Amino acid sequence: MTRAAKLTFEDKTIELPVIEGSEGELAVDITQLRAEMGLITLDPAFGNTGACTSAITYIDGEKGILRYRGYPIEQLAEHSSFIETAWLLIFGKLPTRAELDRFSAQLTAHAPLHESFKHHFEGFPVNAPPMAMLSAMINTLSCFHPEAQDLDEAAFFEEAARLVSKVRTIAAYSYRRSLGLPFIYPDPKLRYVANFLHMMFSMPYDQHVATREVIEALNLILLLHADHEQNCSTSTVRVVGSSRANLFASCAAGVSALWGPLHGGANVAVLEMLEAIHKGGMSAEQTLALAKDKKSGFKLMGFGHRVYKNFDPRAVILKRSADKVLGQLGVNDPLLDIARRLEELALSDSYFVERMLYPNVDFYSGILMRAMGIPTNMFTVIFAIGRMPGWIAHWKEQHETEGMRIARPRQIYTGPRETNYLPMAERK
Ligand code: ACO
Repeated sequence: MTRAAKLTFEDKTIELPVIEGSEGELAVDITQLRAEMGLITLDPAFGNTGACTSAITYIDGEKGILRYRGYPIEQLAEHSSFIETAWLLIFGKLPTRAELDRFSAQLTAHAPLHESFKHHFEGFPVNAPPMAMLSAMINTLSCFHPEAQDLDEAAFFEEAARLVSKVRTIAAYSYRRSLGLPFIYPDPKLRYVANFLHMMFSMPYDQHVATREVIEALNLILLLHADHEQNCSTSTVRVVGSSRANLFASCAAGVSALWGPLHGGANVAVLEMLEAIHKGGMSAEQTLALAKDKKSGFKLMGFGHRVYKNFDPRAVILKRSADKVLGQLGVNDPLLDIARRLEELALSDSYFVERMLYPNVDFYSGILMRAMGIPTNMFTVIFAIGRMPGWIAHWKEQHETEGMRIARPRQIYTGPRETNYLPMAERK
């Protein structure tokens, strides 16, 4: 029997079907609300709005659960790789050996960029932010691969592999451009993460060889960022994709959304905050007091989450990994001590406890990347490389959904009522 919610407004009542997700979450289906009642809903920032059904990622924010296609993030972090997880997200199941080998071969084949890309990069000022270049260059892929518009299964596989692979080359080239360094071609003998580090840090006369610890840690960071259901950037990819914009254009928009400091840009903001404390600008206690003062407009970066109200399971894994990797690399980073102190203070402060504000994934990822020698301006870019499989998976799911319609929210208009045009001479 279908369950229903009743909504009464003035003399009319409507029964709205209640649909149930596979983990028991309930949603009131309001698709007929406006047609039958003349009402719309108002939910700024979409805190109570399900924009779609999705079978990709499950989060229970109260319990701190995150699963990709049903698999707990802790198990994937322990046993899987970023590329295997990318396949899982995009194609819905763990790959067989043959499928994974085929995907890896495609990633290797697609790693180089068309030579003309170099001219595009050279057009950017040397101090251009890598996130700006990343977004622009992903969009530029549409110029070189216009076939990305209407994709059958085989073509989609090709474009997905192309994007997962090239985003890493574009990211590395953006970094090289920001330092005025020569571009380093991908090395087909190297695997995904090692190849990225090679393109970032090698010189034409000196090949950079990343350590196992660094490769494993970056693999973990990418895997942990690979999807997070309907977050700001993924929703952006879906909104853009709903207009039937191609895969590259849709994901380029996702990069722009991710850039902001309240989303992926928070990993940079966390580092800047920790550095400011370290340089003696403010103590940890003063930083906390500022974050609690609503008038300051300042937030404790790397804390809080729209969905997690208990703990962010990714932050737990990353904190453990930061402890381990910094030890393995022999890095003694005072910023890690400051981060630990801030966390300790915040978790025993009633402001943060009452609002259920816990460290999120960005709180420890920056420290880990810094220890690996990754420059701060690349943190959000690395988040974008990690999130790419998630964006692609959502774009695919959306395009496979029967009856997909363009996303077009409504509004409550609060501007002037009809006003007659005033000739210039009569205006005050
Ligand atoms: N520092 C201080 N206060 C905070 C913080 C914070 N980091 N986060 C939330 N709050 C406060 C809010 O001001 C609000 O206070 P009020 O109830 O007195 O008005 C209360 O806590 C509840 O806030 P939410 O509604 O849970 O916050 P929202 O869902 O709107 O925003 C967000 C979530 C953007 C992540 C926010 O917590 C924030 O700005 N955090 C810092 C930036 C950050 O780390 N972003 C990364 C998020 S994870 C990711 O995108 C990968």
